[in-house]
This record gives sequence, structure tokens and C-alpha cells, in this order.
Amino acid sequence: MDEIRITGGRPLRGEVAIGGAKNAVLKHQVATLLTAGRHTLSNVPGILDVALMCRVLDYIGAECSLRDDRLIVEIPDELNPEAPLDLVRQMRASILVMGPLLARCGRVRVALPGGDEIGARPITMHLDGLRQMGAEFELSHGILEGVAPGGLRGADVVFDFPSVGATENILLAAVRAEGVTTIENAAREPELVDLAMLLNHMGANITGAGTSTISITGVSELQPANHKVVPDRLEAGTYAVAGAISSGHVRISHCVPEHSRMELAKLEESGCEVVRGDDWFEVTGPERPKAVNIATLPFPGFHTDMHPQMVAYLSIADGTSVLTENVYEARFRYIGELTRMGADISTDWQHAVVRGVERLSGCPVEAPDIRAGAALALAGLRAEGTSAISEVHHIDRGYHRFVEKLEALGADIERKRSSNRDLS
Ligand code: UD1
Repeated sequence: MDEIRITGGRPLRGEVAIGGAKNAVLKHQVATLLTAGRHTLSNVPGILDVALMCRVLDYIGAECSLRDDRLIVEIPDELNPEAPLDLVRQMRASILVMGPLLARCGRVRVALPGGDEIGARPITMHLDGLRQMGAEFELSHGILEGVAPGGLRGADVVFDFPSVGATENILLAAVRAEGVTTIENAAREPELVDLAMLLNHMGANITGAGTSTISITGVSELQPANHKVVPDRLEAGTYAVAGAISSGHVRISHCVPEHSRMELAKLEESGCEVVRGDDWFEVTGPERPKAVNIATLPFPGFHTDMHPQMVAYLSIADGTSVLTENVYEARFRYIGELTRMGADISTDWQHAVVRGVERLSGCPVEAPDIRAGAALALAGLRAEGTSAISEVHHIDRGYHRFVEKLEALGADIERKRSSNRDLS
């Protein structure tokens, strides 16, 4: 079991280059299922989730090869329209194969994902939308079987919440459906806009991506495309907080500052100096941040996947901050670990009250999920003494060369195989 050890106290300095977005590339991988041929994705991050999605695609019949940041996916004429439980359990995004496989094969079998470490995460909106388009579903023994006997046809789908995954599943189904589909109250995330761009490069007819109403006119044929994945705003935001929490000065390059607008505004409110360029920004952290209040919301609101990193940062603020989590109902499980490092945080339903402390102290902690794992590492950068973060595979799911990038910025950090994990 690998472990990340960080000895805090060094202000980070230097430049870090951002890779392609996890939450975009996984959908791009799924989109290749829509048509046979050789697809090329570039700026692909070497993260665990990309490898897991390749396993999903392999199971369905594709061949994937990743060299450096270039992923080639060969899609055959015949597919096995199935995503089994072990893969869906390891990565919920596997359920996005439903839309393209229904569109392409007229049937799909996927294991129903349960809840996960950040919440119950139902998929009713995905299923309701696909039903409106002509799909029928049956659940038996935990396996969801979908068929579209008369093929998929356009529909007016209205979401009661702008779910990212549900918008993407309907989008992926609609590009090859018969007629026009409109999605009202659609998600507006930049990664979804990037997916629509890829699909349009493949020959789809999508307008309105990035607004609350997306319109898709189905086409009968698509072609493989070459596409460069949009930069990862969550990786960019995480290194921005690394600069801020360590009272350092960090330049974040190969990113889109506009995609991190709300997160950067909150860093500025807390006392950071932020300078923005076209594809870079710089963050200079204060000695000690001011407390700020944050409420997570769908884009363009404050990203829920930046919430744990900001709570780690605000835990050493001068004053009390309130973080309101509006997207997930169970995202506070990592707070116990931060508290072990000396943070003073209490939670009540969807609120975390973060009373800033002057210092954190390093100790063994366990990463419960991707972003919370990153947040614990950020806290370790500030804490006195050494923090040892276990369950590092969560961090590997979303961050490529996390330890190396922080080390290059001057952090005292190493990854090691632990012989004795019980350090308490
Ligand atoms: C995606 C991201 C995830 C991010 C989230 C919100 C990927 C691989 N994951 O997840 O990192 O945190 O967007 O920005 O891109 N919901 C329902 N019913 C549904 C669908 C969703 O109640 O049918 C709820 C979920 O339980 C959750 C909320 O809506 O509480 C947001 O979910 P959604 O936007 O769908 O997130 P994902 O696509 O799963």
C-alpha cells in the first residue's frame, strides 16, 4: 500500500503545467463508442480513471492504447453492449455507456451503481430522459437492462437539477437518435461543452452547449475525430490552493483561468493575490487567509469538487468560514481526518463551520476519495511535522504525477510503500 508523506512548512514556488480534464476525457472515451474506426484523443492525463475507462471500453470490444498523452481508441463494427459490476463499482462514470450503446446497438446491460463515498447518487434523471427517447429498462439482480425496440427518437427532456452525467448521457444518446432532442436545465460545465465540441467534430449537430438549453438534431452517421481534451480546472484549482495554503507563489500554466473564475474569486476574497493570463494564472498566498463563506453550485458556481481543498485552506484562516454543500449530501466524511490534524470544524446537515486555527499538526490520515485525498495533502503542506496519507489510489484516480508536481514546486513530499501502516 503506497503512502504519501509530507512535511509541512515550505512555501511552494514555481510553475506547474496542467493536464487534460478527467471529467472530460472519460466522456470522450465513451463517445468513441458511437462510431466504428480509429479515434485519437490528445492531452489525455495518465490517471487511473482513464485506464479504468479503457478497461470498460475493452470489455465492450474496443482496443485502447495510451502513449504519453495520446490515446488511440479503435472501435469495431460489432460491440458487446455491457458494463459489468466490478468496473461500474470502481468508476461510476462507466454508466455513461448507456446512451451511446442504446443509440448504436439498441440495447445495453449495465450494473446499477450504488451510492459512493460522497453520496447516494441516483441515476433516475438519466433513465427518465432515455425513457422519453424510447428506451425501456428492467432491473433484475442488480443489472439494469435497457432496450430501444423502435430505436431512439428525439424528445424534450427537462431536468429538475442540471445533472452533469444525465445531460451527458442524453447528449450521447441523442446525437444518433431520430429527430430533435432538447435538454432544458442542462448542465453548463466546460467539460460538457468540450464533449459537445468533440461530438460536433465527429459530425453531430449540437447547439447551445454551455447554456441551459441544448438542442441536438440526430444524424445517421458519425466519423472518428482527433480531439484535444480541455485542461483540468480541478487540477488547476488544487495547485492554486497548494500555493495559497503554503503562503507561496505558484504559476499555473496550460489552463483556462475563466473556467476557475469562482474558485479564484474566493481565493482573492481570502487575501490571495491572483494574476490572470490567457492560459495561465499566478497565485500568491497570504501569511494567513481571511475567513470566507462558500456555497457549492453547478457551473458557473463554486465547484463541489473544489470544496474539500478550500475547507483545508480555510481551516487555518483568521476567523470562521461557512461552507454550504449544495450538490452532494454526504461530502463531509473527510472532515474527521482534517480534525485529527488540528482543524476545528463542525458539520450540520449541508453546512461545515470552519473555525480557523493558527496551526495544523501532521499525523497519519486516510484519503476517502479523490478530492478529499488532495485536500489532506494540501493540509499536510501547511501542517507542522509529517503527515502520512494512505489510500493514495484515490488521488491517483484524478491527479497525474501529483507527488512529482508538488515536489517540483518545492514541497517536502515523497511517496513510499509503507511497511507499517499503523502509525497512530
Ligand atoms: C460529475 C463529476 C463529479 C462532479 C459532479 C458535479 C464526472 C466523472 N464526475 O458527476 O466529479 O462532482 O459532476 O459537478 O464528471 N443526481 C440525482 N439523480 C440523477 C443524477 C444526479 O439525484 O439522476 C444528483 C446526484 O446524486 C448528485 C447531484 O445530482 O447529488 C449532482 O450529480 P451530477 O451532476 O449528475 O454528477 P455526476 O455526473 O455524477
